[in-house]
Amino acid sequence: MARTTFARGALAALSAAALLALGACSTTPTNASGDGGSGGDGGSGDDLITIGFSQVGAESGWRAANTKSIQDTLTEENGFELSFSDAQQKQENQIQAIRSYIAQGVDVIAFSPVVESGWDAVLEEAKAAGIPVILTDRAVDSEDESLYASFIGSDFVLEGEMAGEWVAENFDGEGLKVVELQGTTGSAPAIDRKEGFESAIAGSDVEIIDSQTGNFTRAEGKTVMEGFLQAHDDIDLVFAHNDDMGLGAIEAIEAAGLTPGEDIKIVTIDAVKDGMQALADGKINYIVECNPLLGPDLAEIAKKVVAGEEVEKRIVVKDEAFDQEAAIEALPTREY
Ligand code: AHR
Repeated sequence: MARTTFARGALAALSAAALLALGACSTTPTNASGDGGSGGDGGSGDDLITIGFSQVGAESGWRAANTKSIQDTLTEENGFELSFSDAQQKQENQIQAIRSYIAQGVDVIAFSPVVESGWDAVLEEAKAAGIPVILTDRAVDSEDESLYASFIGSDFVLEGEMAGEWVAENFDGEGLKVVELQGTTGSAPAIDRKEGFESAIAGSDVEIIDSQTGNFTRAEGKTVMEGFLQAHDDIDLVFAHNDDMGLGAIEAIEAAGLTPGEDIKIVTIDAVKDGMQALADGKINYIVECNPLLGPDLAEIAKKVVAGEEVEKRIVVKDEAFDQEAAIEALPTREY
């Protein structure tokens, strides 16, 4: 679908440098067909919607499933020409990618912000270029909501609350000692899940005795858990902000000669296949889901936004929670 030539013309001088820079932070071809992308109304010359998507990175099983959902949905058959870039968990790479998409004059920009703060300037640039922005998965803390068209994603505070409620319901009265593996510092899921969990255990005798970031990765989750085990000999439960860090914690607990799920209980968020298998095996005790399949909602909202239709400012994705029995039942047909 064609958009006005304003953005492409006004920003043409920036495009070559920006495209070179984007290439430096991409781990996949810059568009779905792998030809480097064209963008805007100077692009494919057909009715495809050109969309630039800046992904956080490839830090977790959740992220892999989210990327697959986006790439499988924003296809030419479905009316899109996708330019996809991987920011490798760096905000500066995302800002560079978004500037490149502005320079290309794409029809719509979508991204999952690695951290909450620091987006206003680049979002103002997209707005000035007349390019609508859709947030997926993670929020920004901009006070000006006109800087983006819609935000599609889970309620992370609720996810933290669901995890905390299960812990309080099952262990209040036992003086439970919890260590927390936080997600990426400054990211919406890390901030919100911590807040939700703490509010749910408030008033119980469940106590968080240590809390550090494991950056949502299995390797860092393992390293931080090793440190927790050296510093504390009274850990009862790990609350990990995602499955991957919980899986890293399992490795550290087993290496210390303890039994995960028994000696030290584990509660995580995501419910990706590896996490669900560990839950079914009794190594994780409870998982709150975070649904990564955001591609179909993004496609629908992008089509509406480009057509100038009204869209909901906030689309909340529904999540479930799983205990061992539910994981065993769900695993055979689990999509991610
Ligand atoms: O923003 C969603 C979070 O990001 C997922 O819970 C985590 O696995 C991912 O890295």
